[in-house]
Amino acid sequence: MSKITSSTLIKFKQEGKKFTSLTAYDASFAAAFDSEGVDVLLVGDSLGMVLQGHDDTLPVTIQDIAYHTRCVRRGIKRALLMADMPFMTYSNPQQAMENATLLMQAGANMVKIEGGHWLLETVTKLTERGIPVCGHIGLTPQSVHVFGGFKVQGRGAENAQRILDEAKALEAAGAQLIVLECIPAPLAKTITEALTIPVIGIGAGVDTDGQILVMHDVLGISSGYIPRFSKNYLKQTGEIRSAIRAYIEEVQQGIFPSDEHTFN
Ligand code: KIV
Repeated sequence: MSKITSSTLIKFKQEGKKFTSLTAYDASFAAAFDSEGVDVLLVGDSLGMVLQGHDDTLPVTIQDIAYHTRCVRRGIKRALLMADMPFMTYSNPQQAMENATLLMQAGANMVKIEGGHWLLETVTKLTERGIPVCGHIGLTPQSVHVFGGFKVQGRGAENAQRILDEAKALEAAGAQLIVLECIPAPLAKTITEALTIPVIGIGAGVDTDGQILVMHDVLGISSGYIPRFSKNYLKQTGEIRSAIRAYIEEVQQGIFPSDEHTFN
């Protein structure tokens, strides 16, 4: 079994093979997801909401992510492990390098940061020093208070153009992966086709190279607000490993996300 690397994901993109990603926060779930064939596991700062019970991701610290990254690392044999840089841990390139180093030393293969043009120097510096970067644009949850809520982004020509420009600029700066969150599906398709690097969508339609969901949504155990773009696979399968296999199959066959999980 060969390990998934950023080169594997580029190959998947070139071959038109859709890949799957899920969040994971501990070794046991990580091992189950990994052995069922999830390609990318993310220690997301969503842990602030689904594990810690906060209303948003802002209280999460770099120590929280490093701890859960160490846990998840012990469960993985094949998947690529990505770790989120929390709110205000990468506000300048030097701070980003110090904090990204902690996550790489905890076992991450790549770090994910939220934002567009203001991050370009940081992306280049991290990449040059050996830290692969995934850019996250569209609805960036760390900016929820700027957006005035968890709202679809990229509606209207000007906003759509800005997100497309950000995606291209992040790729040019050295990003090896892009997450697009909550944007209209046609925009996500345009961005995916415009980039050489793989694009993972969440609430971004069926045409991205891969899909990511929060594990608690897939297993139907999120409390409170359930995002429209998520799908409870445990409800239809009744067993955790079958739920994960159903998610993988539906992504690979282009069944998920369907129109009911998509913004147009
Ligand atoms: O923190 C997280 O789980 C994420 C995904 C929703 C992409 O960033």
